[in-house]
Amino acid sequence: MVNAREARLLWAHVMNLPSSSLPIDVPALNPAQQTIYDALCARRDAGEPLAKIIGRKAFWEHEFHTTQATLDPRPETEGIIEAILDHRPDRQRALKILDCGTGTGCILLSLLYEYPHATGVGLDISADAIAIAAHNAAQHNNFLLERVEFDCLDWTLHQKSLYDVVVSNPPYIPSRDICILDVDVRNYDPILALDGGIDGLDAYRSLMAAMHRLLSPHGILVCEIGQGQEHEVQHIAMNHGLRCVEIRKDLSDIARIIVWQWNENYHVAHI
Ligand SMILES: C[S@@+](CC[C@H](N)C(=O)[O-])C[C@H]1O[C@@H](n2cnc3c(N)ncnc32)[C@H](O)[C@@H]1O
Repeated sequence: MVNAREARLLWAHVMNLPSSSLPIDVPALNPAQQTIYDALCARRDAGEPLAKIIGRKAFWEHEFHTTQATLDPRPETEGIIEAILDHRPDRQRALKILDCGTGTGCILLSLLYEYPHATGVGLDISADAIAIAAHNAAQHNNFLLERVEFDCLDWTLHQKSLYDVVVSNPPYIPSRDICILDVDVRNYDPILALDGGIDGLDAYRSLMAAMHRLLSPHGILVCEIGQGQEHEVQHIAMNHGLRCVEIRKDLSDIARIIVWQWNENYHVAHI
């Protein structure tokens, strides 16, 4: 059943109004608008996520266009932004940022807003997701377009540069658990964004193996992890010469965001 907040957001969508300007009392719709509104409510009642119906989702300070090709941005992923702001507090730094598995581009574009002199590259193996990320960059601000590049590429193949900040919210659901996810995730988020292989950790293995040619000597790697993956992901990171500098929990007290730097001895030996 559509709740009151969702009803107002759907109303704003029908009226082509931004969700930031929702009235407290929703004025009546004309018959044509009412028909559209009823159809949208029926989709929501059938389990389709609101973000997929209205085609956008709020993340950090902005709204991002989202489709069947992209994971809808999640509130817990904002912890990546918070962690980077805390570990790199000088907003004037011209950071070079790499976002592995960019989806809507929500993480990278939010960071480029926070650091006005930073530049960024967003990678995704989904060409459709890359098109959405590029659309979001263009929608938001031409100023962002000059500082961002999106490439349809597997992160294991990217070798352009060393980055000050590498971020990733990779797919981390074990393959066998996909079928027991909530319907609104299982049926509406793309499988490429969810499936992390047999144990859910494939992406961390390939990502961390690539760090020696992507992460600068004083850079930080910041990743989101799935529930209960903390120890195994830490083990993978340690094997690749990375030292944990912080673990952040989400609002449900689950370890969710991890920040790493190079273990100095390892880095010197391998670069
Ligand atoms: C969980 S989604 C995260 C999307 C977005 N960063 C966010 O936090 O909302 C993971 C994304 O990684 C992409 N992906 C998965 N494996 C990849 C790989 N090896 N190289 C590049 N992108 C990959 C998927 O297509 C998907 O868009």
